[in-house]
Amino acid sequence: MCGNEGHSHSPTGMSRGATGVRVMSMNRMQTIAQHVVGSAEVRRSAAGFIGYGDTKRGDRVLLAVPRITDGEVIETVIGAMHDRGAKVDLMVLDDEPDRDFRPLDEIEMMMRREPYWVNLRRGDRAPWIEELAAARNYDLLIHGSAGPVPKSAGRYEAFPWTTKEHFLGEANLFPRELHRIINEHTWSRITENIGGRLSLTDPEGTDLTMSIQEKPFHDGRHDYGLNPKWGHLMAHPPTPVEPDDDTTGVIAGTMSHYGRAFPRIEIEVQRSKVVRISGGGQYGQGWRDLDEESANIQYPCFPAPGLFWLWELAIGTNPKIRRPSNIDRLSSDGFEWERRRGGVIHCGFGTRWRSAEEDWAGDQGLLYGHLHVHLLFPTLTVETADGRVIPVIEHGRLSAYDDPEVRDVAARYGDPDELLHDDWVPAIPGISTTGSLTEYQADPGRFIYPVASR
Ligand SMILES: [Fe+2]
Repeated sequence: MCGNEGHSHSPTGMSRGATGVRVMSMNRMQTIAQHVVGSAEVRRSAAGFIGYGDTKRGDRVLLAVPRITDGEVIETVIGAMHDRGAKVDLMVLDDEPDRDFRPLDEIEMMMRREPYWVNLRRGDRAPWIEELAAARNYDLLIHGSAGPVPKSAGRYEAFPWTTKEHFLGEANLFPRELHRIINEHTWSRITENIGGRLSLTDPEGTDLTMSIQEKPFHDGRHDYGLNPKWGHLMAHPPTPVEPDDDTTGVIAGTMSHYGRAFPRIEIEVQRSKVVRISGGGQYGQGWRDLDEESANIQYPCFPAPGLFWLWELAIGTNPKIRRPSNIDRLSSDGFEWERRRGGVIHCGFGTRWRSAEEDWAGDQGLLYGHLHVHLLFPTLTVETADGRVIPVIEHGRLSAYDDPEVRDVAARYGDPDELLHDDWVPAIPGISTTGSLTEYQADPGRFIYPVASR
Protein backbone atom coordinates (compact mmCIF):
# COMPACT_ATOMS: atom_id res chain seq x y z
CA MET A 1 0.00 0.00 0.00
CA CYS A 2 1.07 3.55 -0.52
CA GLY A 3 0.61 4.23 3.20
CA ASN A 4 -0.99 7.63 2.80
CA GLU A 5 -4.69 6.86 2.74
CA GLY A 6 -5.78 10.38 3.55
CA HIS A 7 -4.56 11.57 0.15
CA SER A 8 -5.63 8.76 -2.12
CA HIS A 9 -7.27 10.92 -4.77
CA SER A 10 -5.49 13.76 -6.48
CA PRO A 11 -7.14 16.73 -8.20
CA THR A 12 -6.04 15.15 -11.45
CA GLY A 13 -8.33 12.18 -10.77
CA MET A 14 -5.48 9.74 -10.37
CA SER A 15 -6.29 6.64 -8.34
CA ARG A 16 -3.31 5.35 -6.48
CA GLY A 17 -2.13 1.81 -5.92
CA ALA A 18 -3.91 0.34 -8.93
CA THR A 19 -0.90 -1.67 -10.10
CA GLY A 20 2.29 -2.99 -8.58
CA VAL A 21 4.33 -0.57 -10.67
CA ARG A 22 2.29 2.39 -9.55
CA VAL A 23 2.61 1.37 -5.89
CA MET A 24 6.40 1.19 -6.23
CA SER A 25 6.43 4.56 -7.94
CA MET A 26 4.21 6.11 -5.31
CA ASN A 27 6.34 4.72 -2.52
CA ARG A 28 9.39 6.39 -3.95
CA MET A 29 7.44 9.57 -4.62
CA GLN A 30 6.40 9.62 -0.98
CA THR A 31 9.89 8.83 0.24
CA ILE A 32 11.25 11.81 -1.66
CA ALA A 33 8.39 14.07 -0.58
CA GLN A 34 8.99 13.15 3.04
CA HIS A 35 12.72 13.73 2.62
CA VAL A 36 12.14 17.18 1.13
CA VAL A 37 9.52 18.17 3.66
CA GLY A 38 11.87 17.06 6.45
CA SER A 39 15.04 18.74 5.11
CA ALA A 40 16.48 22.03 6.38
CA GLU A 41 15.32 25.26 4.76
CA VAL A 42 18.18 27.16 3.09
CA ARG A 43 16.29 29.24 0.48
CA ARG A 44 17.97 27.65 -2.52
CA SER A 45 16.40 26.31 -5.71
CA ALA A 46 18.88 23.53 -6.62
CA ALA A 47 17.80 19.89 -6.25
CA GLY A 48 19.38 18.52 -3.10
CA PHE A 49 19.05 21.87 -1.32
CA ILE A 50 15.26 22.02 -1.23
CA GLY A 51 13.71 21.63 2.21
CA TYR A 52 10.53 22.60 4.03
CA GLY A 53 11.81 21.27 7.34
CA ASP A 54 10.72 24.08 9.69
CA THR A 55 7.11 23.13 9.00
CA LYS A 56 5.22 22.22 12.14
CA ARG A 57 1.68 21.20 13.08
CA GLY A 58 -0.80 23.97 12.35
CA ASP A 59 1.38 25.80 9.82
CA ARG A 60 -0.32 27.38 6.82
CA VAL A 61 1.61 26.92 3.60
CA LEU A 62 1.04 28.62 0.25
CA LEU A 63 2.23 26.53 -2.70
CA ALA A 64 2.16 28.29 -6.08
CA VAL A 65 3.21 26.41 -9.22
CA PRO A 66 2.82 26.80 -12.97
CA ARG A 67 0.06 24.81 -14.67
CA ILE A 68 2.56 22.58 -16.46
CA THR A 69 3.59 20.99 -13.14
CA ASP A 70 2.63 17.31 -12.80
CA GLY A 71 -0.41 16.90 -10.52
CA GLU A 72 0.96 13.77 -8.89
CA VAL A 73 4.11 15.60 -7.77
CA ILE A 74 2.04 18.42 -6.30
CA GLU A 75 -0.30 16.04 -4.54
CA THR A 76 2.50 13.95 -3.05
CA VAL A 77 4.26 16.99 -1.59
CA ILE A 78 0.98 18.26 -0.16
CA GLY A 79 0.38 14.80 1.31
CA ALA A 80 3.75 14.89 3.09
CA MET A 81 2.90 18.36 4.42
CA HIS A 82 -0.42 17.05 5.73
CA ASP A 83 1.45 14.27 7.47
CA ARG A 84 3.31 16.96 9.43
CA GLY A 85 0.03 18.62 10.36
CA ALA A 86 0.31 21.58 7.98
CA LYS A 87 -2.41 22.95 5.69
CA VAL A 88 -1.49 23.78 2.13
CA ASP A 89 -3.31 26.22 -0.13
CA LEU A 90 -2.48 25.59 -3.77
CA MET A 91 -2.37 28.24 -6.49
CA VAL A 92 -1.83 27.22 -10.09
CA LEU A 93 -0.50 29.96 -12.35
CA ASP A 94 -1.37 29.89 -16.00
CA ASP A 95 1.23 28.55 -18.39
CA GLU A 96 1.25 27.44 -22.00
CA PRO A 97 0.51 23.76 -22.67
CA ASP A 98 3.40 21.36 -23.12
CA ARG A 99 5.04 21.40 -26.55
CA ASP A 100 8.38 20.89 -28.30
CA PHE A 101 11.07 23.48 -27.66
CA ARG A 102 11.68 26.03 -30.42
CA PRO A 103 14.94 27.77 -31.41
CA LEU A 104 14.02 31.19 -30.00
CA ASP A 105 12.47 30.03 -26.72
CA GLU A 106 15.47 31.09 -24.62
CA ILE A 107 15.16 34.63 -25.95
CA GLU A 108 11.38 34.76 -25.59
CA MET A 109 11.49 33.32 -22.08
CA MET A 110 14.42 35.36 -20.74
CA MET A 111 14.22 38.82 -22.35
CA ARG A 112 11.72 41.60 -21.62
CA ARG A 113 11.02 45.28 -22.37
CA GLU A 114 8.46 45.92 -19.64
CA PRO A 115 8.36 45.46 -15.86
CA TYR A 116 9.03 41.77 -15.17
CA TRP A 117 5.69 41.23 -13.43
CA VAL A 118 3.67 42.26 -16.52
CA ASN A 119 4.78 39.11 -18.31
CA LEU A 120 6.64 36.77 -15.97
CA ARG A 121 9.66 34.95 -17.28
CA ARG A 122 9.71 31.19 -17.13
CA GLY A 123 10.39 29.92 -13.63
CA ASP A 124 10.06 33.37 -12.08
CA ARG A 125 8.18 34.25 -8.95
CA ALA A 126 5.02 36.37 -9.10
CA PRO A 127 5.10 39.44 -6.83
CA TRP A 128 1.34 39.17 -6.23
CA ILE A 129 1.90 35.68 -4.82
CA GLU A 130 4.63 37.03 -2.53
CA GLU A 131 2.33 39.88 -1.46
CA LEU A 132 -0.51 37.45 -0.77
CA ALA A 133 1.74 35.22 1.34
CA ALA A 134 2.89 38.21 3.39
CA ALA A 135 -0.55 39.86 3.70
CA ARG A 136 -2.28 36.65 4.79
CA ASN A 137 0.53 35.61 7.15
CA TYR A 138 1.33 32.28 5.60
CA ASP A 139 4.03 30.48 7.57
CA LEU A 140 5.78 29.28 4.41
CA LEU A 141 5.66 30.27 0.75
CA ILE A 142 6.78 27.64 -1.78
CA HIS A 143 7.12 29.26 -5.19
CA GLY A 144 9.58 29.59 -8.08
CA SER A 145 11.66 26.97 -9.81
CA ALA A 146 15.11 28.53 -10.26
CA GLY A 147 17.29 31.52 -9.49
CA PRO A 148 17.91 33.17 -6.14
CA VAL A 149 15.00 33.28 -3.71
CA PRO A 150 14.15 36.99 -3.17
CA LYS A 151 14.91 38.58 0.14
CA SER A 152 11.81 38.52 2.34
CA ALA A 153 11.00 38.42 6.02
CA GLY A 154 9.15 35.13 5.89
CA ARG A 155 10.08 31.55 5.08
CA TYR A 156 10.34 31.13 1.31
CA GLU A 157 11.43 27.99 -0.56
CA ALA A 158 11.49 26.80 -4.16
CA PHE A 159 9.67 24.06 -6.09
CA PRO A 160 11.91 23.11 -9.05
CA TRP A 161 10.13 19.98 -10.25
CA THR A 162 7.80 19.96 -13.25
CA THR A 163 7.63 16.23 -13.94
CA LYS A 164 7.63 12.98 -11.98
CA GLU A 165 11.00 12.22 -13.53
CA HIS A 166 12.49 15.36 -11.96
CA PHE A 167 10.98 14.48 -8.62
CA LEU A 168 11.96 10.80 -8.66
CA GLY A 169 15.60 11.61 -9.42
CA GLU A 170 18.30 10.50 -7.01
CA ALA A 171 19.55 14.11 -6.99
CA ASN A 172 16.76 15.02 -4.57
CA LEU A 173 18.01 12.49 -2.02
CA PHE A 174 21.72 13.31 -2.26
CA PRO A 175 23.00 13.65 1.34
CA ARG A 176 22.89 17.32 2.27
CA GLU A 177 26.01 17.16 4.47
CA LEU A 178 27.99 15.68 1.59
CA HIS A 179 26.52 18.15 -0.87
CA ARG A 180 27.54 21.01 1.41
CA ILE A 181 31.15 19.89 1.75
CA ILE A 182 31.40 19.46 -2.04
CA ASN A 183 30.23 23.07 -2.34
CA GLU A 184 32.62 24.28 0.37
CA HIS A 185 35.65 22.52 -1.10
CA THR A 186 34.86 23.78 -4.60
CA TRP A 187 34.18 27.32 -3.47
CA SER A 188 37.21 27.59 -1.18
CA ARG A 189 39.50 26.87 -4.14
CA ILE A 190 38.37 30.28 -5.42
CA THR A 191 37.88 32.27 -2.21
CA GLU A 192 41.26 31.24 -0.79
CA ASN A 193 42.97 32.54 -3.90
CA ILE A 194 41.61 36.04 -4.34
CA GLY A 195 44.01 37.94 -6.55
CA GLY A 196 44.86 34.75 -8.44
CA ARG A 197 43.78 33.92 -11.99
CA LEU A 198 41.00 31.63 -13.21
CA SER A 199 41.33 29.80 -16.49
CA LEU A 200 38.32 28.19 -18.16
CA THR A 201 38.43 25.90 -21.19
CA ASP A 202 36.00 23.45 -22.79
CA PRO A 203 36.42 21.12 -25.78
CA GLU A 204 33.54 22.86 -27.58
CA GLY A 205 35.82 25.89 -27.89
CA THR A 206 35.71 27.94 -24.68
CA ASP A 207 38.99 29.57 -23.64
CA LEU A 208 38.72 32.37 -21.08
CA THR A 209 40.80 33.86 -18.29
CA MET A 210 40.04 36.33 -15.50
CA SER A 211 41.38 37.65 -12.21
CA ILE A 212 39.62 36.67 -9.00
CA GLN A 213 38.45 40.07 -7.78
CA GLU A 214 38.39 41.01 -4.10
CA LYS A 215 35.78 43.79 -3.97
CA PRO A 216 32.69 41.83 -5.09
CA PHE A 217 33.08 39.42 -2.18
CA HIS A 218 32.65 42.26 0.32
CA ASP A 219 30.26 44.85 -1.15
CA GLY A 220 26.99 43.11 -0.29
CA ARG A 221 25.80 42.29 -3.81
CA HIS A 222 22.91 39.84 -3.85
CA ASP A 223 23.57 36.11 -4.02
CA TYR A 224 27.35 36.31 -3.66
CA GLY A 225 29.99 36.38 -0.94
CA LEU A 226 32.63 34.32 0.80
CA ASN A 227 30.12 31.64 1.78
CA PRO A 228 29.10 29.24 -1.00
CA LYS A 229 25.76 29.81 -2.70
CA TRP A 230 24.67 26.21 -2.53
CA GLY A 231 24.36 24.51 -5.89
CA HIS A 232 25.24 27.61 -7.95
CA LEU A 233 28.87 28.59 -7.34
CA MET A 234 29.78 31.68 -9.30
CA ALA A 235 33.29 31.68 -10.72
CA HIS A 236 32.60 35.23 -11.89
CA PRO A 237 30.76 37.67 -9.61
CA PRO A 238 27.20 38.78 -10.39
CA THR A 239 26.52 42.36 -11.49
CA PRO A 240 27.58 45.12 -11.24
CA VAL A 241 30.54 44.48 -13.53
CA GLU A 242 33.58 46.30 -12.12
CA PRO A 243 35.47 48.78 -14.35
CA ASP A 244 38.71 46.83 -13.82
CA ASP A 245 37.16 43.44 -14.71
CA ASP A 246 39.67 41.73 -17.00
CA THR A 247 37.61 38.66 -18.08
CA THR A 248 38.72 38.01 -21.65
CA GLY A 249 38.47 35.17 -24.15
CA VAL A 250 35.83 33.05 -25.87
CA ILE A 251 32.77 31.09 -24.70
CA ALA A 252 31.39 28.48 -27.10
CA GLY A 253 28.59 25.94 -26.86
CA THR A 254 25.39 24.50 -28.29
CA MET A 255 22.85 24.81 -25.44
CA SER A 256 21.07 27.44 -23.37
CA HIS A 257 18.58 27.01 -20.51
CA TYR A 258 15.25 26.75 -22.33
CA GLY A 259 15.59 26.73 -26.11
CA ARG A 260 16.36 23.92 -28.49
CA ALA A 261 20.03 23.01 -28.82
CA PHE A 262 21.55 25.23 -31.53
CA PRO A 263 24.50 25.12 -33.96
CA ARG A 264 27.69 26.13 -32.15
CA ILE A 265 27.71 29.72 -30.97
CA GLU A 266 30.91 31.56 -30.18
CA ILE A 267 30.89 34.62 -27.94
CA GLU A 268 34.01 36.74 -27.76
CA VAL A 269 34.47 38.66 -24.53
CA GLN A 270 36.87 41.52 -23.80
CA ARG A 271 37.05 42.84 -20.24
CA SER A 272 33.72 41.09 -19.63
CA LYS A 273 31.96 42.82 -22.54
CA VAL A 274 30.62 40.75 -25.44
CA VAL A 275 32.33 42.09 -28.58
CA ARG A 276 31.38 39.41 -31.12
CA ILE A 277 28.62 36.78 -31.47
CA SER A 278 29.28 34.22 -34.21
CA GLY A 279 27.16 31.30 -35.39
CA GLY A 280 24.38 29.95 -33.17
CA GLY A 281 21.76 29.49 -35.92
CA GLN A 282 18.48 31.26 -35.17
CA TYR A 283 19.48 31.72 -31.51
CA GLY A 284 22.68 33.47 -32.59
CA GLN A 285 20.84 35.72 -35.04
CA GLY A 286 18.23 36.61 -32.43
CA TRP A 287 21.00 37.42 -29.97
CA ARG A 288 22.84 39.63 -32.49
CA ASP A 289 19.59 41.56 -33.11
CA LEU A 290 19.22 42.16 -29.36
CA ASP A 291 22.87 43.20 -29.12
CA GLU A 292 22.28 45.80 -31.82
CA GLU A 293 19.07 47.03 -30.17
CA SER A 294 20.84 47.59 -26.84
CA ALA A 295 24.26 48.70 -28.10
CA ASN A 296 23.92 52.36 -27.07
CA ILE A 297 22.06 51.91 -23.81
CA GLN A 298 24.11 52.69 -20.69
CA TYR A 299 22.80 50.26 -18.08
CA PRO A 300 23.52 51.23 -14.46
CA CYS A 301 25.32 47.94 -13.76
CA PHE A 302 27.92 48.04 -16.54
CA PRO A 303 31.01 50.23 -17.06
CA ALA A 304 30.13 51.11 -20.68
CA PRO A 305 27.07 50.93 -23.01
CA GLY A 306 25.49 47.68 -24.17
CA LEU A 307 23.49 44.90 -22.52
CA PHE A 308 25.60 41.84 -23.10
CA TRP A 309 28.31 41.58 -20.48
CA LEU A 310 29.44 38.27 -19.01
CA TRP A 311 28.70 38.00 -15.32
CA GLU A 312 27.40 34.48 -14.71
CA LEU A 313 29.81 31.54 -14.66
CA ALA A 314 27.88 29.23 -12.37
CA ILE A 315 29.06 25.77 -11.34
CA GLY A 316 26.54 22.98 -10.61
CA THR A 317 27.36 20.69 -7.68
CA ASN A 318 25.00 17.68 -7.62
CA PRO A 319 26.54 14.46 -9.05
CA LYS A 320 23.16 12.72 -9.34
CA ILE A 321 21.43 15.11 -11.76
CA ARG A 322 20.42 13.53 -15.08
CA ARG A 323 19.13 15.02 -18.31
CA PRO A 324 15.35 14.40 -18.43
CA SER A 325 14.24 11.88 -21.06
CA ASN A 326 11.67 14.33 -22.49
CA ILE A 327 14.35 16.98 -23.10
CA ASP A 328 12.64 18.02 -26.35
CA ARG A 329 9.55 19.15 -24.41
CA LEU A 330 8.84 22.30 -22.43
CA SER A 331 7.82 20.21 -19.39
CA SER A 332 11.38 18.83 -19.11
CA ASP A 333 12.49 22.34 -18.09
CA GLY A 334 15.02 21.99 -20.88
CA PHE A 335 18.73 22.15 -20.13
CA GLU A 336 17.96 24.24 -17.05
CA TRP A 337 17.63 21.00 -15.08
CA GLU A 338 20.97 19.47 -16.09
CA ARG A 339 23.01 22.62 -15.46
CA ARG A 340 22.77 21.68 -11.78
CA ARG A 341 24.93 18.58 -12.30
CA GLY A 342 28.31 18.76 -10.59
CA GLY A 343 30.93 20.36 -12.81
CA VAL A 344 28.55 21.73 -15.46
CA ILE A 345 28.97 25.49 -15.95
CA HIS A 346 26.33 27.82 -17.30
CA CYS A 347 27.47 31.18 -18.62
CA GLY A 348 25.06 34.13 -18.48
CA PHE A 349 25.32 37.45 -20.37
CA GLY A 350 23.09 40.49 -19.66
CA THR A 351 21.33 41.81 -16.59
CA ARG A 352 20.96 39.92 -13.33
CA TRP A 353 17.58 38.31 -12.66
CA ARG A 354 15.18 40.65 -10.82
CA SER A 355 17.92 43.14 -10.02
CA ALA A 356 17.76 46.92 -9.66
CA GLU A 357 19.06 47.25 -13.23
CA GLU A 358 16.15 45.15 -14.51
CA ASP A 359 13.69 47.39 -12.64
CA TRP A 360 15.45 50.41 -14.15
CA ALA A 361 15.20 49.03 -17.70
CA GLY A 362 11.66 47.66 -17.35
CA ASP A 363 10.30 50.99 -16.09
CA GLN A 364 11.61 52.69 -19.26
CA GLY A 365 10.58 49.99 -21.71
CA LEU A 366 14.22 49.11 -22.45
CA LEU A 367 15.47 45.63 -23.28
CA TYR A 368 16.82 43.58 -20.36
CA GLY A 369 17.45 39.98 -19.30
CA HIS A 370 20.30 37.55 -19.81
CA LEU A 371 21.05 34.69 -22.19
CA HIS A 372 22.96 31.49 -21.55
CA VAL A 373 25.53 29.15 -23.03
CA HIS A 374 26.21 25.85 -21.23
CA LEU A 375 29.59 24.13 -20.85
CA LEU A 376 29.29 20.38 -20.24
CA PHE A 377 32.97 19.38 -20.11
CA PRO A 378 34.66 22.47 -18.69
CA THR A 379 38.09 22.55 -17.12
CA LEU A 380 38.47 25.35 -14.57
CA THR A 381 41.76 25.99 -12.80
CA VAL A 382 43.05 28.56 -10.38
CA GLU A 383 46.55 29.91 -10.76
CA THR A 384 47.58 31.25 -7.38
CA ALA A 385 49.58 34.40 -6.79
CA ASP A 386 52.64 32.23 -6.04
CA GLY A 387 52.27 30.25 -9.27
CA ARG A 388 50.57 27.03 -8.13
CA VAL A 389 47.82 25.58 -10.34
CA ILE A 390 44.77 24.20 -8.50
CA PRO A 391 42.11 22.29 -10.44
CA VAL A 392 38.48 23.18 -9.67
CA ILE A 393 36.84 21.19 -12.49
CA GLU A 394 38.60 18.75 -14.80
CA HIS A 395 36.80 17.79 -18.02
CA GLY A 396 33.40 18.33 -16.39
CA ARG A 397 34.22 16.59 -13.09
CA LEU A 398 34.52 18.47 -9.79
CA SER A 399 38.02 18.10 -8.37
CA ALA A 400 36.58 18.30 -4.85
CA TYR A 401 35.26 14.74 -5.27
CA ASP A 402 38.84 13.56 -4.69
CA ASP A 403 39.50 15.57 -1.52
CA PRO A 404 40.08 13.24 1.44
CA GLU A 405 37.72 15.24 3.69
CA VAL A 406 34.95 15.00 1.08
CA ARG A 407 35.48 11.26 0.69
CA ASP A 408 35.43 10.83 4.48
CA VAL A 409 32.01 12.47 4.67
CA ALA A 410 30.81 10.37 1.72
CA ALA A 411 31.87 7.19 3.56
CA ARG A 412 29.31 7.96 6.27
CA TYR A 413 26.54 7.57 3.69
CA GLY A 414 27.82 4.72 1.52
CA ASP A 415 30.52 3.93 -0.99
CA PRO A 416 32.41 7.19 -1.73
CA ASP A 417 33.18 6.05 -5.27
CA GLU A 418 29.48 5.56 -5.92
CA LEU A 419 28.29 8.74 -4.21
CA LEU A 420 30.99 10.95 -5.74
CA HIS A 421 30.29 9.76 -9.24
CA ASP A 422 28.47 11.77 -11.92
CA ASP A 423 25.65 9.40 -12.79
CA TRP A 424 24.88 11.15 -16.06
CA VAL A 425 27.55 12.25 -18.52
CA PRO A 426 26.27 13.64 -21.83
CA ALA A 427 27.18 11.78 -25.01
CA ILE A 428 28.88 14.31 -27.26
CA PRO A 429 30.60 12.93 -30.37
CA GLY A 430 34.29 13.73 -30.39
CA ILE A 431 34.27 14.49 -26.67
CA SER A 432 32.71 11.64 -24.71
CA THR A 433 31.72 9.26 -27.53
CA THR A 434 33.12 8.39 -30.92
CA GLY A 435 32.16 10.56 -33.87
CA SER A 436 32.75 14.05 -35.15
CA LEU A 437 32.42 17.06 -32.86
CA THR A 438 32.16 19.27 -35.94
CA GLU A 439 29.13 17.30 -37.18
CA TYR A 440 27.56 17.45 -33.72
CA GLN A 441 28.10 21.20 -33.41
CA ALA A 442 26.55 21.83 -36.84
CA ASP A 443 23.24 20.24 -35.75
CA PRO A 444 23.30 19.05 -32.12
CA GLY A 445 19.54 18.43 -32.10
CA ARG A 446 20.10 15.46 -34.40
CA PHE A 447 22.08 13.79 -31.60
CA ILE A 448 20.00 14.94 -28.63
CA TYR A 449 16.33 14.75 -29.50
CA PRO A 450 14.03 11.81 -30.25
CA VAL A 451 13.56 11.20 -33.98
CA ALA A 452 10.01 12.59 -33.94
CA SER A 453 11.08 16.07 -32.79
CA ARG A 454 14.28 16.61 -34.78
FE1 LIG B 1 21.27 32.64 -15.35
